[in-house]
Amino acid sequence: MKKSINPLWGGRFEKEGTDLLKKINNSISFDYQLAFQDLKLNKIYAKGLLKAKIISQNEYEEIIDAIKKINSELKEGKFKFSELFEDIHMNIEMALKKRIGNLAGKIHTGKSRNDQVVTDLKLWIRERLIILLNKIKTIQTTLINKAEKNLDIIMPGFTHLQNAQPVLFSHYLLSFFEMLERDKLRINQLYNNMNTCPLGSGALVGSNFFEIDRFFLAKELGFDKPTENSIDSVSDRDFVVEFISILAIISIHFSKMAEDFIIWASNPFDFLKFPDSLSTGSSIMPQKKNPDATELVRSKTGRIFGSLFNVMAIQKGIPSGYSKDLQEDKEPVFDSYNTIEIILDVMNETIKKVLVNKKKMYEESFKGYTTATDLADWMVKNLDITFREAHNKTGKIVLLAEQKKKKLYELTLEQMQSVEPKINVKIFNVISPENSINEKKSYGGTSLGQVKNALKRAKKRI
Ligand code: ARG
Repeated sequence: MKKSINPLWGGRFEKEGTDLLKKINNSISFDYQLAFQDLKLNKIYAKGLLKAKIISQNEYEEIIDAIKKINSELKEGKFKFSELFEDIHMNIEMALKKRIGNLAGKIHTGKSRNDQVVTDLKLWIRERLIILLNKIKTIQTTLINKAEKNLDIIMPGFTHLQNAQPVLFSHYLLSFFEMLERDKLRINQLYNNMNTCPLGSGALVGSNFFEIDRFFLAKELGFDKPTENSIDSVSDRDFVVEFISILAIISIHFSKMAEDFIIWASNPFDFLKFPDSLSTGSSIMPQKKNPDATELVRSKTGRIFGSLFNVMAIQKGIPSGYSKDLQEDKEPVFDSYNTIEIILDVMNETIKKVLVNKKKMYEESFKGYTTATDLADWMVKNLDITFREAHNKTGKIVLLAEQKKKKLYELTLEQMQSVEPKINVKIFNVISPENSINEKKSYGGTSLGQVKNALKRAKKRI
C-alpha cells in the first residue's frame, strides 16, 4: 500500500484520493472539538476489550497509559491534529499508534467510526447541557437581584408596542425568569432523552462475536443503558435537532429581551441606558453610543435558526443506516452552542449593568390612558353595569380626555359625570398608576405583593 493512502482504511485502495476529495471529506478541521470525548470513549472501550478478553491486562495498561499522555497533550494544547488522518477518530488512533505501535490496532476491534462518532457527539452535547443549565441559573439569579433592586419601579406595559397598562419593571424582569425555567425543563428532558449509548452498534448491524458488553460500556460512559437497535443507533440524530431547537428557543427569549432593551434605550423612550462598557461609538457621529452588543444578540438568534434548519435538511433525505452526510451535523452543533454561550454571557452582563431611568418610566406609565381598564372595572364593581357598557362609557371618557388634551386623572369629576352620572370622587383613587398596579392581585399579577411572593418562589425554584 502506498504510504500516502489512508493508513486506517486504505487496504483495498491502489491509488490515493485527490486533494479535492480530501478537501470535501476531511472533518478534522472541526471535529477536533470532539477530542476529549473520543479519548474518553477509547479509554472505556479499552476496558470493554479487557473485559471481553480481547486484550490482556498488560495491553490494557499500556493503552491507558498512552491515552493519559495524549490527554495531557490535548490539555496543554500540544496535540498535533493532522489532515492526513481525515477525522478525530483516526487522529486519536494514529496518536495511540505513535506511542504503542501495533497494539493500537486492537482498539478498533468490534467498533466502527459510525457508532463512535454518534457516541462522541452525545457525550459532547450532554456535557454542554450541564454547562447551559448552570449559565441559565446564573442569569436567573441576576434577574432576581435586578428585580429586587428595582422592585417598585412603575413603567407602562405594552401590547402592540402601545402603552397598555402600568406594570412593575420587576414583574417584567421576572417574566424572563419563567421563560428560563421552561428552557431548563427542556434541557433536562433532552438530557434524559439522550440517556442511551450507541457504542457497540458497529457500522450498523451490531458488533461481532467479540462479546463486547454494551451495558457495561453504557454505564461507564455515564449513560443509563445501551441503545436498542443498531441501525437506529448509528443514524439517529434526533438529539441534534432537539439540542439546536432548544438553543433556538433560548435565543428567541434573549432576542426578545435584547429588542426590548434596544427600544427602551432609544432616545425617544429613554427608559434605560447602556453603560459605556456595553456600548460602541460611531466613526462619524461623535455623540453616538450604540447598543451593538444587544443588537448582535438579536441577530445571532437567526444564526442559530440557520443551524437548526441545516441539521434538519441534512437528515431529510438520507437512507437508513449511516451516510457521510451525517458528518455535516457537527459544525451547526458547535456553532450554535458557541453562539448561545456568547448570547447568555452578554445578556447576563447587560441585565446586571443596564441603568434604569425610574422617572421617565413612571412618567410614561400613565400616558396613553393606561388606567382606562381600571376605570371600566371600577364601574362594573361599583355601579352595577356590565363590563361591555363600562367599556363603552370609558371609551367616551377617554375620547373626552383626548379632546381636552388631558390625562385621564386630570379630567374633573363633572366631566366624567357628563358620560356616567353615577361616577363619584372615589374614582380618583383608582386611576393612578400605583393604584392600578396594586389592584392586580391575581396570582402571577403585577401588584407589589404578588411580585414579592413571586420573588420568594423564584429563589426557591432556581
Ligand atoms: N467523520 C465521520 C463523521 O463525522 C465519522 C464516521 C465515518 N464513517 C464512515 N463510515 N466513513 O460522521
